[in-house]
Amino acid sequence: PRCFAVVPCAGIGERAGVGGPKQYHPVAGKAVVAHTLAALGAVSRLDATLVVLSPQDTQFEQHAPGFEGERGWVVRVGGASRAESVANGLDELLARGAQPHDWVLVHDAARCLLRPEWVERLILACEEDEVGGLLALPVADTLKAALPGGDGEARVAATVDRAAKWAAQTPQMFRLGLLRPALVGALSDPDLAARITDEASAIEALGHQPRLVPGDFENFKLTWPGDFALAARLLATVPL
Ligand code: C5P
Repeated sequence: PRCFAVVPCAGIGERAGVGGPKQYHPVAGKAVVAHTLAALGAVSRLDATLVVLSPQDTQFEQHAPGFEGERGWVVRVGGASRAESVANGLDELLARGAQPHDWVLVHDAARCLLRPEWVERLILACEEDEVGGLLALPVADTLKAALPGGDGEARVAATVDRAAKWAAQTPQMFRLGLLRPALVGALSDPDLAARITDEASAIEALGHQPRLVPGDFENFKLTWPGDFALAARLLATVPL
């Protein structure tokens, strides 16, 4: 089987507060997504990377010039949710000759600190697996559930047992022939669609148990305003 990366890059990133889609905000001299694509491009096991943009996107080409080529495709089929963007991207992969038994590694454009060796670790751990898996980290902090409602002041409703809890990262690696129906099925059920925030959750909804592969603390998703300065500091220490 071949391995394809799919990068959902069609979000608006409103939590980041940077006045535009966070994937195009500069970090250490280039756009977030340019770092992400450079890391994926250094993974020799990947046959090609497909980037999913919003149909209205006007910025990708200027931030990742010349990306499209032998190992890169750009498609403007982003949807209203991440799951929809990914599902549409999978259709584009099929249209380009990918097969159901090929592997798909879905990776957030906004996780721009990705290192090639983490992707290789995931592929090694999952390529013989029945289901597939994802990079994730055991939760170190004590977890609190907040009382509902409070947008301003939050209060603790309960402490959540953190034992055996992992925080999901990306890439998430599944067979195309399993992931596509999982996402399409989840999207057709409004209750489920609202709870599907990653690929693994759609796979789990079918009763499967994806493998948890240790990721890295630095593989965080740029989400909040302060994340960009932290990412810049970390990138300055990585010889790319
Ligand atoms: O918003 P969030 O941080 O969860 O987005 C994760 C990734 O999914 C980002 O790279 C974002 O661009 C992408 N996304 C997308 N289509 C959407 C929403 C998010 O491709 N409708």
